[in-house]
Amino acid sequence: MPEMPSAASATCCDAAASARAAGAFIPTMQNAPMTDQPLASTAAPPADLMTLVVDRRVDDRGDIMRLDLVAPDGADLPPFEAGAHVDVHVDVHVDDGEVHLVRQYSLCGDPADRSRYRLGILDDPQSRGGSRALHRLAQVGTRLTVGTPRNLFGLDAQAPETVLVGGGIGVTPLLAMAHALHGQGRHFTLHYCTRTRARTAFLDEIEGLAFRDKIVLHFDDEGPLVPERDLPSASDGAHLYTCGPSGFMDFVISSALSLGYGAERIHREYFNAEVDESGAGFEVEAARSGVRVHVAEGVSIAAALKAAGVAVNLSCESGVCGTCLVDVLEGVPDHRDKFLTDEEREAGDQMLICCSRARGAKLVLDI
Ligand code: FES
Repeated sequence: MPEMPSAASATCCDAAASARAAGAFIPTMQNAPMTDQPLASTAAPPADLMTLVVDRRVDDRGDIMRLDLVAPDGADLPPFEAGAHVDVHVDVHVDDGEVHLVRQYSLCGDPADRSRYRLGILDDPQSRGGSRALHRLAQVGTRLTVGTPRNLFGLDAQAPETVLVGGGIGVTPLLAMAHALHGQGRHFTLHYCTRTRARTAFLDEIEGLAFRDKIVLHFDDEGPLVPERDLPSASDGAHLYTCGPSGFMDFVISSALSLGYGAERIHREYFNAEVDESGAGFEVEAARSGVRVHVAEGVSIAAALKAAGVAVNLSCESGVCGTCLVDVLEGVPDHRDKFLTDEEREAGDQMLICCSRARGAKLVLDI
């Protein structure tokens, strides 16, 4: 059994194999100076975007801010499934102009409550712009442009038993799952792992939940999660869901596998991931754009194409959200994302260009 890493190095919002991901930040913004400006939406948003108002802000422990977002007219919001996230659009002013950021945050409230979306946002020093800006600028009454909920981390409706294992801010989608499972009268346990009680967010909320007895708190300095003791027997057919920092999730997943959980019963959602841009340079031909670029070591395909004037859709820039997916027309991708399934990687006909690279000298992409 691997040694358990700290649960509290979690960074959020912000999926390997079957799971899909949320949340991350734009690297080029990491050190960009920002000024306080109104956050969003003076114009009407596109159809799949909404203008929502911050109805409540709680500055919680562990540098986590909880926001409740409501419709300006108090109407019901579009429904969401447990595990879903929303895109939050943030306009940030930097020295040389305004930058539009899109960040994904899991919905952590009760899916049965249509009156509000609840978010938990970590003020992460490693943030590359979005979360730090939101922490500084989102106050009660602030209007935000928010996408309709999307779910890439859904619950298995047939699981006889469900175990949710969250590290730090990674607990957010699992809280929504716990609400849903409780509402459906299903068997579940939520293990919430953090470094210390003093830096654990959501404690006041958890203490008031009707299913408080289904939540087990683990603090690294008091007694961390012990998978052999705490996870249900694999023979019970339990499905496991985990979200948190990569090292924490790797520990949970490898522990579950060694306890006999089948890979198909282990579900995960990464909030962000390290991007490995090492390796030799290669050529990329953007077939639709008629552009060829050299992608040097340390530079992503997306960055090289953008520098050459090719329009590239990007969001997380860390291989977890799927926004930058393109079809591969020639060449063999070196997949470095956490979004595609093993089968999709093997097929080799699509790739995430914010992080993945080439196995050979050249790729031809449908972009
Ligand atoms: S931008 Fe999110 S996976 Fe590439």
